[in-house]
Amino acid sequence: MAHKVTLIPGDGIGPEVVGAVVRVLEATGVKFEWESFAAGAEAYEKFHEYIPHELTESLERTKVGLKGPVTTPIGGGFPSINVALRKKFELFCNFRPIYNLPGIPTRYPGVDLIIVRENTESLYAGIEHEVVPGVVESLKIITEKASTRIARWAFEYARREKRKKVHAIHKANIMKLSDGLFLRCSRAVAKEYPEITYGEHIVDNTCMQLVMNPYQYDLLVMENLYGDIISDLCSAFVGGLGLVPGANLGHECAIFEAVHGSAPDIAGKNIANPTAVLQSSILMMRHLGEIEAADRMRAGLDEVYRRKKDKLTKDVGGSGTTSEFADAVMEAMHQVPASASAS
Ligand code: NAI
Repeated sequence: MAHKVTLIPGDGIGPEVVGAVVRVLEATGVKFEWESFAAGAEAYEKFHEYIPHELTESLERTKVGLKGPVTTPIGGGFPSINVALRKKFELFCNFRPIYNLPGIPTRYPGVDLIIVRENTESLYAGIEHEVVPGVVESLKIITEKASTRIARWAFEYARREKRKKVHAIHKANIMKLSDGLFLRCSRAVAKEYPEITYGEHIVDNTCMQLVMNPYQYDLLVMENLYGDIISDLCSAFVGGLGLVPGANLGHECAIFEAVHGSAPDIAGKNIANPTAVLQSSILMMRHLGEIEAADRMRAGLDEVYRRKKDKLTKDVGGSGTTSEFADAVMEAMHQVPASASAS
């Protein structure tokens, strides 16, 4: 039976990287029925809706999405499509694993770090208005419900995956009420997981600590805006934004997308690195229960990074194009046994 998946190619480099990844997914032999939709500016041009209602109906049905980046205008224009979808489908957890790929030299080898970002509230919700000309107000809303929910997800994941430490990241020295509430919820949940060491770090110190020694952390749980910023910082440990996957997870629905954005500086040139979306799609395959195919994709990807460096894209030192890289992964996927790589 084919998996029905809602596909949002996005804009900028989105259609290039998502297109490449769809080819790899189809080459696994797993059957998909893609329901593909534009979102953002492109959708508005065609349908006068930033999120076409067909797209939300599709996600309500399929409950699984694979998404490319969507440009959000800066300092004006329409609100973020990404934020709207996360809110609409209560995708409360943004899961972002940070680990090195074989053969990519970085300043920090052997990084293995999990970022768990609350995905529905805080300043990132973008609730703001002009009070009077020259004065604007931006509301940071933190709730016990969302803070407890994300802390619980983080600790459950840590228990399941035998992670040893969870750190809650905050700024409760200044935002005593909002980040204070986030911390109180994290502490209460932490008590139920005595086998996991619980720590708390202030967000600015965390940035310094990460750059000095990322190995001191295991899993970081934090509110939305801190997670947004710290994810990009951590992507640099392993080779940059072209590599790091993500999953927006709710109880009912999941949308898989890379950490990176639409990268307008390199769009339309067939040079963007599809690895981040590819790794997100491997998370999606596991979510769909296609474990063998996910392992094959992982093995093919690792093989290209290990041995076919000329096929890698420019951001990671190669000279290959987006599509050449995808071709190389497809070829390697069929040559290397799935067990050749850790999943
Ligand atoms: P960005 O992530 O698009 O780009 C930052 C830098 O990383 C650029 O130099 C870019 O060339 C590079 N980069 C990103 N992805 C890459 C890839 N796959 N391969 C090679 N290099 C890559 O961040 P930026 O420029 O801050 O944002 C651009 C737009 O993307 C904005 O409108 C922003 O709102 C949107 N955005 C959308 C996201 C989403 O849809 N989930 C997430 C982040 C940003």
